[in-house]
Amino acid sequence: MAAPGENLRINSDRLWDSIMEMAKIGPGIAGGNNRQTVTDEDGEGRHLFKRWCDAAGLEMGVDEMGTMFARREGTDPSLPPVYVGSHLDTQPTGGKYDGVLGVLGGLEIVRSLNDLGIKTRHPIVVTNWTNEEGARFAPAMMASGVFAGVLDQADVYEHTDKNGKKFGEELERIGWKGTEKVGDRKIHAFFELHIEQGPILEDEDIDIGVVTHGQGLKWLQVTLTGKEAHTGSTPMPKRRNAGLGMARVIELVHEIAMDYQPDAVGAVGHMEAYPNSRNIIAGRTVFTIDIRSPEKEVLDAMDARVREGIDTICEALDIQYKVEQVGHFDPVTFDKNCVKAIRDAADRLGYTHRDIVSGAGHDACWINRVAPTAMVMCPCVDGLSHNEAEEITKEWAGAGADVLFHAVVETAVIVE
Ligand code: GLV
Ligand code: MN
Ligand code: MN
Repeated sequence: MAAPGENLRINSDRLWDSIMEMAKIGPGIAGGNNRQTVTDEDGEGRHLFKRWCDAAGLEMGVDEMGTMFARREGTDPSLPPVYVGSHLDTQPTGGKYDGVLGVLGGLEIVRSLNDLGIKTRHPIVVTNWTNEEGARFAPAMMASGVFAGVLDQADVYEHTDKNGKKFGEELERIGWKGTEKVGDRKIHAFFELHIEQGPILEDEDIDIGVVTHGQGLKWLQVTLTGKEAHTGSTPMPKRRNAGLGMARVIELVHEIAMDYQPDAVGAVGHMEAYPNSRNIIAGRTVFTIDIRSPEKEVLDAMDARVREGIDTICEALDIQYKVEQVGHFDPVTFDKNCVKAIRDAADRLGYTHRDIVSGAGHDACWINRVAPTAMVMCPCVDGLSHNEAEEITKEWAGAGADVLFHAVVETAVIVE
């Protein structure tokens, strides 16, 4: 099949303008975004995306998980489409690019194809996966997980946010629960463009990360139960301090991750203490351990050590514990042909590139189980992400989208 000509480029000004327009919806408090999944802001962002898709002549489908599929017809509509996309939801203190670049990069591809009057044999579908972040409702990559058959739809509908609201009810409330059965679509290939969310590309002054693997992850939600008591008058030996237990577990997670350097990571990002009063010893704490590694054996070993350590800590403090796995995926190896399409595209376009392992989870990690999949990454300033100060340049975004463009249209096959 003929490779696209090297002069084939997306319109990076239009891509950038669209990213900035989307960022106006659900603004954060420090220049970024708070457009968490299935909130009113998420609903508004979806409407804007749909308006853009309508204007580009795409046909929108929405499945029962709220995932949006905007289709540009191919010359052979019977062929399975090439899918491209990411997510429009953000962390509570998220950046403007995490996820958004991948969805709007996909939209920019079809806009550019329209401008140039280029037809492809396979249809192209730009996708916005629901609840990639997992911040409001665990787990992350929820809709792509249901699509890939690894998460149960009825189960995730029941998952609650910190106010007790159910995912399924909130999806319905914002009006984006579609009628299409989840996972019914046949995918010829899936490509996702994303910011790196780490420092490697910027440090090495490289334009493009060709993502060959994604590291595996486990989220363990821990509940420690001690006894609420007065912070002033309860003798130290009599305390059953769930806050102290949480502190020790946090330290333990850090130590375990440090034992598996240079690749493994671990932290506790979500923490709640009850009743959270200055002069009451915490009787209950709830927190989530996030451990990751590119090697399954390491991830499993870390998991076992964390559980063993929690047992020892709780026994010493005379507190009870419960550990629930609320998120999990094994390390991922992306499809070699899709990876090659990305590497070849970067070469053809004259961008510097290197192979890279994704540290973050992505919808591509789940879709890789049901279709040939790969990812493109562009640098981000100081490797900073999941922070409102997350930043990239228009040139980095444009280069990433150019590479995505070439990989997608080569796979969808240009009609001469
Ligand atoms: C998703 O953003 C993750 O936690 O990696
Ligand atoms: Mn993301
Ligand atoms: Mn994210």
